[in-house]
Amino acid sequence: MQTEIIKIEDLSRDAALIEKAGEVLRSGGLVAIPTETVYGLAANALDGEAVKKIFLAKGRPQDNPLIVHVADISQIPPLVKKMDERVYALAEKYWPGPLTVIMEKSAIIPDEVSAGLDTVAVRIPSNPVANAVIRAAGVPLAAPSANSSGKPSPTRASHVIEDMDGKIDMIIDAGKSEIGVESTVVTLAEGKPRLLRPGGITLEQLEDVLGETLVDKAVFSKLGGGEKASSPGMKYKHYAPKAEVTILKGSLESAAEFVNSLNEDSCVMCFDGESSRFNCRCIEYGAENDSLSQAEKIFDALRRVDETGCEKAYVRCPSANGVGLAVYNRLLRSAAFRVKNLESRMPVIGLTGQTGAGKTTVSAYLAEQGFYVIDTDILARKAVENKDVLLSLCEEFGNDILLPDGSLDRKKTAQRAFASKEKTKALNDITHPVITAMVHIELEKAQAQGAKGAVIDAAALLESPITQLCTVTASVMAPLEERLERIIKRDGITREQAMLRISAQYPDEYYKEKTDIIIENANNSDYKKDVARLIRLCCKGKDE
Ligand code: TXA
Ligand code: MG
Repeated sequence: MQTEIIKIEDLSRDAALIEKAGEVLRSGGLVAIPTETVYGLAANALDGEAVKKIFLAKGRPQDNPLIVHVADISQIPPLVKKMDERVYALAEKYWPGPLTVIMEKSAIIPDEVSAGLDTVAVRIPSNPVANAVIRAAGVPLAAPSANSSGKPSPTRASHVIEDMDGKIDMIIDAGKSEIGVESTVVTLAEGKPRLLRPGGITLEQLEDVLGETLVDKAVFSKLGGGEKASSPGMKYKHYAPKAEVTILKGSLESAAEFVNSLNEDSCVMCFDGESSRFNCRCIEYGAENDSLSQAEKIFDALRRVDETGCEKAYVRCPSANGVGLAVYNRLLRSAAFRVKNLESRMPVIGLTGQTGAGKTTVSAYLAEQGFYVIDTDILARKAVENKDVLLSLCEEFGNDILLPDGSLDRKKTAQRAFASKEKTKALNDITHPVITAMVHIELEKAQAQGAKGAVIDAAALLESPITQLCTVTASVMAPLEERLERIIKRDGITREQAMLRISAQYPDEYYKEKTDIIIENANNSDYKKDVARLIRLCCKGKDE
């Protein structure tokens, strides 16, 4: 398909071109239009067949609904089941402008637009060219951002040409989008208003009109596998250059020190005037204290990352206040939520205790509180799959500790290793360095996922160098009789066997003396109270 590219410089002079765009849209074609947020890819919103072409041109997932653009509030009532009174108050302050409102839809909205939901998103753009095109078309226009799905949204006609040339009927070039990030999306369809996507209208501005407004979980965090997205667009990988993006939290000094110490092919997205501090290619994306200037440049900068050909890009972290929330939200997605905190170390809890005391129960509870759990038992099992480790173990304990398939006979090894203190130490000397290295990798993962902290669950914590990685150490404790009962039940062993295991361990005093906090986990005590104390202690002075 031949894409016609037209340039609009003066609306009154170029009226015939706008009329032509209107005609293309009325007859079921696709036109990329400038808006004040980003460029949109428009089709007649009431024509399901025309709307289907948008999904094809963008490669957009079918379950991601589109925003319907109108020129005037009088065009909205026919699109919705019932006009929410709050829309008038919002319109008065923020329309035309970068705000999208979701309400229950009426029957004239085709399923293609709402992607099967019973709601519709509407917005009145302020860009005069967008407004003129909607009027010329004479119908509401469904328009997502005019990029290929997954790429940064287009803020210049050249970006649209990059992604859409040959795939759509027409591109209207009317210069740069002045805001630069997509509209704020708020839903009124559930009673209490909820912010689904931050944008040019800030949360504070919404609350001025709507009162308390919830912030959808997807604004800050990656949705889990089974979780349902309120705004389907938020679940996809988004705004991503080909390079792997990482956000660097912390000062300019710490970012420069980190990047300059790397020996890899990377570039940096930094604030204006910072380029000279980095020893690699830099793309400046606005002034540090000016979220509006960052919003304006963010998508262009992300596109320019690919022009450098670098495999990795590091981005100075913006403030998340006001419009900055939209900038930070887009960056989080382009970085697949990789955030490296250079300033404050993530709190790390070392969790230990005797067998049957309930370490697993406590770490599962900490996981519910946002902690990333590192189970050293699992790591130890992986460690003995390592060839070098197996070799050293054979040297120490004899070749017959291997099973016919070459893997470790764990039972036999345990018998020999726990036969004496010296043999136990020999086992630890072989396996601990490998496990410690694996713990380091897990801690990196936890940090990258933005976990509140990490918990290292390790029976031998206090005898291993892993203790040094911990901000706080804690012992889980329970009365002897209860521990006995628990392990007899858990492992299906006799009372004598259970007794033997327990007596091979360090006594209560050892744990009390060596760890910072004791978590009482007797059957009749509330371990959660002690865990709350533990969290307070390890997160002291941290604001997240
Ligand atoms: O600024 C903007 O909003 C730009 C310009 C072109 O107007 N448009 C835009 O559209 O960003 P798009 O498709 O890239 O993003 C629309 C977002 C998606 O996250 C989508 O899931 C959400 O709005 N959305 C649309 N209809 C919805 C609905 N009924 N319920 C929940 N989310 C909806
Ligand atoms: Mg988009």
